[in-house]
Amino acid sequence: MKPVRKVVIPVAGHGTRVLPATKSIPKELLPVVDRPLIDYVVNEAFEAGIEHAVLVTGRGKGAIEDYFDHAFELEAGLEAKKKTQILDSVRACVHTAGAISYTRQQAPLGLGHAVWCARDIVGDEPFAVSLPDEIVARRPGYLKQMLNAYGEVGGNLVAVEEAPKEETSKYGVVAPIARKGALIEMSGMVEKPAPEDAPSNFRIIGRYVLQPDIFDLLEQQEKGAGGEIQLTDAMNKLNARQTFHACINEGEIHDCGSKLGWMKANAALALENPDFGDAFAEFLRVRL
Ligand code: G1P
Repeated sequence: MKPVRKVVIPVAGHGTRVLPATKSIPKELLPVVDRPLIDYVVNEAFEAGIEHAVLVTGRGKGAIEDYFDHAFELEAGLEAKKKTQILDSVRACVHTAGAISYTRQQAPLGLGHAVWCARDIVGDEPFAVSLPDEIVARRPGYLKQMLNAYGEVGGNLVAVEEAPKEETSKYGVVAPIARKGALIEMSGMVEKPAPEDAPSNFRIIGRYVLQPDIFDLLEQQEKGAGGEIQLTDAMNKLNARQTFHACINEGEIHDCGSKLGWMKANAALALENPDFGDAFAEFLRVRL
């Protein structure tokens, strides 16, 4: 079994669900407490043992690259003022040289197309995909849990959680056949079904482990839901050919691609913050 060394993180989306906040900044840089969304997802991957993150960017997303680079003037200023703690937090954003690559999706043709844009950098090896809209507060993160499952069953994995049936049209949904512990065998999966057509209420979360064969399927693929090249449609085809499991992960995940999800993520992480969690809880108590 080849190890999973790389993660593909698509960051080219427009963040339409959180406009106008994302009109002139990438949605991946929206802060949750004191760090941008992208930082949570990249750190989750590196903490899981991933060695290389491939960010699929697009027009207007240059600030993401700057976030992961040195800011020499800023760092020199903080150093001169001996603001060591802040300086350390700024430097912690800079990972080992070469550990993050960027490639560009030139047109918004869908999640499947974004992943396909990373094919040459990924090469012929299994890889993970993490969608930065969704962040986990708990450790170990979702990717670590999935890589543990990959170590047991290999093949392909997609993270899922149970969601209210009326929400299926916002997500990919899997069709379970059999469940063993946290792993589910599937007869297929479908992207954004209407609640009456949904094969279950297990919705796909933005964490995947995929074999490189997905790239050939994505290359041939026609447009699916919303007129976009969908990753779910290619995974559905792969499920018919290779070992594929849905993986029910432990821990709370927040969909920050929606305004309410983003507010919940901020509240959940602020309450856990060692510096001001208690003060924030008191602030909420007074209002409720
Ligand atoms: C994407 C996937 C979908 C998945 C969702 C998770 O949808 O296509 O299958 O359930 O992410 O956040 P998007 O949010 O890009 O519409």
